[in-house]
Amino acid sequence: MVHRKMHVFFTGEYEGLSGMSEVIMKSSFRLTVIGLLAIFLASSVTAGEGPGRAAIASAHYLATEAGHEILEKGGNAFDAAIAVSAALAVVEPTSSGLGGGAFWLLHRASDNFEVMVDGRERAPAASHKDMYLDANGQVNRDLAVNGPLAGGVPGEVAGLEHLARNYGRLPLAASLQPAIRLARNGFPVDKKFHSLMGYRIDAIKRWPAAARVLLADGEVPPVGYVIKLPDLAWVLEQVAERGARGFYSGPVAERLVKGVRDAGGIWTMDDLAAYRIKEREPIRTQYRGYELVTAPPPSSGGIAIAEILNILEAYPINRLGSVQRTHLIVEAMRRAYRDRGIYLGDPDFVEIPVAMLTSQFYADGLRASIMPERATPSSMLPGNEQIQEGTDTTHFSIIDAEGNMVAATLTVNLPFGSAFMPPGTGLLINNEMDDFSAKPGEPNAYGLIGFTANEIQPFKRPLSSMSPTFMIGKDKRAVIGTPGGARIITMVLLGILDFMQGHQPDSWVALPRFHHQYVPDVISAEQDAFSAEEIAGLKAMGHEVKVRDRTWGNMHGVMWNLETGEVTAGSDPRWPSGRAIVR
Ligand code: GLY
Repeated sequence: MVHRKMHVFFTGEYEGLSGMSEVIMKSSFRLTVIGLLAIFLASSVTAGEGPGRAAIASAHYLATEAGHEILEKGGNAFDAAIAVSAALAVVEPTSSGLGGGAFWLLHRASDNFEVMVDGRERAPAASHKDMYLDANGQVNRDLAVNGPLAGGVPGEVAGLEHLARNYGRLPLAASLQPAIRLARNGFPVDKKFHSLMGYRIDAIKRWPAAARVLLADGEVPPVGYVIKLPDLAWVLEQVAERGARGFYSGPVAERLVKGVRDAGGIWTMDDLAAYRIKEREPIRTQYRGYELVTAPPPSSGGIAIAEILNILEAYPINRLGSVQRTHLIVEAMRRAYRDRGIYLGDPDFVEIPVAMLTSQFYADGLRASIMPERATPSSMLPGNEQIQEGTDTTHFSIIDAEGNMVAATLTVNLPFGSAFMPPGTGLLINNEMDDFSAKPGEPNAYGLIGFTANEIQPFKRPLSSMSPTFMIGKDKRAVIGTPGGARIITMVLLGILDFMQGHQPDSWVALPRFHHQYVPDVISAEQDAFSAEEIAGLKAMGHEVKVRDRTWGNMHGVMWNLETGEVTAGSDPRWPSGRAIVR
């Protein structure tokens, strides 16, 4: 896999912005026409016609294989999504698990129906907005991210049952078999597990049940070391036998609640019994002839992506020089992330002006505030929100032979979640409570300052950045997503723009990345994202550019070209365990 230089994609004559005003003035009308056309074109594909082959791309080869195994047993994309989710919960405990949550975006080919299954964690009944504040009113960061008090009530298992019951073709028990086998027989530690355990080992060592099964004699296990999780196999078997009740009630729930409470947490049996998934109508937006179907709140991703694309649509970005193009993308990112902080939270608790935020009128107004040759300092825009910048999560993408699609992003938040494992369960509890604002104006572990829309309340879901997305057009259908905390949104955006330039999934996932999130007011860039000249050009416009010595994200995408019949898939080369397989 070759990392291509960003500026190679951005070649084209620099037009300056003098010719742009006309483009901008006409944008609302033009976008309405394009939008209507896109809807017509997208729906002109006959429902139920599929590519005849299936593609799965996930963060772990054993999970991708688990998905194909279930397809070969007669399952559809939704059964395969259960198998991949459950397998990742075993072999990639860094990133997701039965102790965490997920969003599964579904496209059913037979009737072109789309929905997002929201299995996001919920705050327990005894939570309250000041629960992480100490006697001096300061946020206790350790409590917010490490140990059982950091965990929201998990949603993944409820989501898996919901997928099987409403969309799958096989019994839940059948789709869980590969994961049960992996948990019982073991799996080799990979590079990602090894390096992220180096980062989280001190937290893991505090909890004997976790240290016993995830460490090698108390140390970071070497790559290739085999980990077996028999307790997790037992939990999965309980779910296979009894469905979600096997997790949210009975012996598994008792072990979860006892473990959490013995260690200082606040979950109750009622919290688990009361957990419910939600079906949510996706965010839809049109961009250059494609319908984008993406994650609604409690994700911030779909709204932010729609807002950014609505701003960008009126610019001829593929004909601009790379510095000008990057400047405009960054200014659009800046404005969308500002709105993320001000308006977004759990839609069951806060009123979100979705229609306004995703409207072309609003985007036209934002675009009018962008200076063609000069960065807008974030401090000159109203609002002051910092965003959590880097957490661990996982994403997979599926298209099956019938054309059903799944974009799923799953999480336990930080690598290995809260690091807390209730004894006898083999699973790690998430630390998703840290995706809430622990205190208005107070930064979290990653610099997050939030306000009331995302404050802690009992039963509320914390705001997420997870952005599973479909791109649906007359000629192509594609599935995209990635982990990476607040950077998820900008990574998916860059992937969408690359798709729009006609590139394949292996290009979207490998693309060097840049990111701006309003505050801090800096463009963060991977090493290969910009040349020295491009950095100088951006600085001359007033941007601060920070080239990071690390990469971010772990994107996995699939695409069906309806004109050629070709199905392609790509796995992010940044982590070698990822695998994209078309069969
Ligand atoms: N925990 C990462 C997210 O939901 O965005």
